[in-house]
Amino acid sequence: MLTPQTIPTPCYLIYEERLRSNLRLISDVSRRSGAKIIMAFKANAVWRTFDIIGEYCRDFTASSLNELELGNTTLGGDAHSYCPAYTDDTIEKYIAGSTHITFNSLDQARRFAPKALAAGVSTGLRVNPQCSVIETDIYNPALPGSRFGVTADCIGACLPDYIEGLHFHALCESSSHDLEKVLKAFEDQFGHLLPQVKWVNMGGGHLMTRAGYDTEHLVKLLTEFRKRYPWLEVILEPGSAFTWRTGDLLASVVDVVENQGIKTAIIDASFACHMPDCLEMPYKPAITESVDAAEGLPSYRIGGNSCLSGDFMGDWSFPQALKQGNRLTFEDMNHYTTVKTNMFNGIAHPSIALARSDGKVEYLRQYDFSDYKSRMC
Ligand SMILES: Cc1ncc(COP(=O)(O)O)c(C=O)c1O
Repeated sequence: MLTPQTIPTPCYLIYEERLRSNLRLISDVSRRSGAKIIMAFKANAVWRTFDIIGEYCRDFTASSLNELELGNTTLGGDAHSYCPAYTDDTIEKYIAGSTHITFNSLDQARRFAPKALAAGVSTGLRVNPQCSVIETDIYNPALPGSRFGVTADCIGACLPDYIEGLHFHALCESSSHDLEKVLKAFEDQFGHLLPQVKWVNMGGGHLMTRAGYDTEHLVKLLTEFRKRYPWLEVILEPGSAFTWRTGDLLASVVDVVENQGIKTAIIDASFACHMPDCLEMPYKPAITESVDAAEGLPSYRIGGNSCLSGDFMGDWSFPQALKQGNRLTFEDMNHYTTVKTNMFNGIAHPSIALARSDGKVEYLRQYDFSDYKSRMC
């Protein structure tokens, strides 16, 4: 029988009970605030877990035709699409598959929104409240000069009559207090347009499932906003919040090397291929087996099994010296990680497994040479 301790590595192990706990919290916030909370696929496309997710939430937001098809063929709820630029070739499919489409520019809206409306799709315009609360530039949609959303000065006194909703997205792993700042900027700049629309989508980045997130404050903000604009449907589209801390990457040490006093434990996985946000963000993930650094404890860089020089992170301390065969648990490697992996170097892709609430562990997917070969031609 497979267990988290014995399943072969490398493996992403997702925990059903942790997922359900997030889903319960999100459903509760939705019920208490009256806001519709839909799931952003960009953070999670492990569709074999959608039977579980669908028990709580079937509405979703898609940022590509692939995500749209995945949503329509699995969750099947309301389909909100937003992509930075639609083309003559893609818009028909978006219209056929979406209940809502948000446009990123006035020109895109002018070209495509009347057609979408005529087909019964609700149309929105993404606006940019120019309120930066994110410190990491590549995750900051409100960075000066951002390509996302129309600024207030370009809209003027009223919206084109083919727009039914407004959308803003300015958060990333943010608190309700960050939302409060952005919401104020949004209302200051776009409040005069709200009588003309039916819905407001407040984007993603609401990390309501993180320990310490002030959900009461979020519910209050949303409830008060709805009181100010009772005709509006309020929508949130978080991604990370759904799968935050729901899965780990299990890896094993395959060798330990030393160079100029620096010890590196090489694992059967890779930061570049299997934990890309660690290098991109960058951030140092928690390893369950590591301990706080203390004098005399063995410390290591952890190195990926790829040939990219920068495929390492450091340093972690361990109670004992690491040796070949030791298992390491890289925590919180489900949201965004599982959708962003790659097969650089042809390196073995971790399997994906689910630990059921009753403790049983089952494979959702195992990868082999055919997966590597079929990506290429
Ligand atoms: C438009 C939009 N909506 C929703 C999300 C989901 O954000 P998060 O996963 O941070 O909640 C993103 C993330 O980039 C986004 O760009």
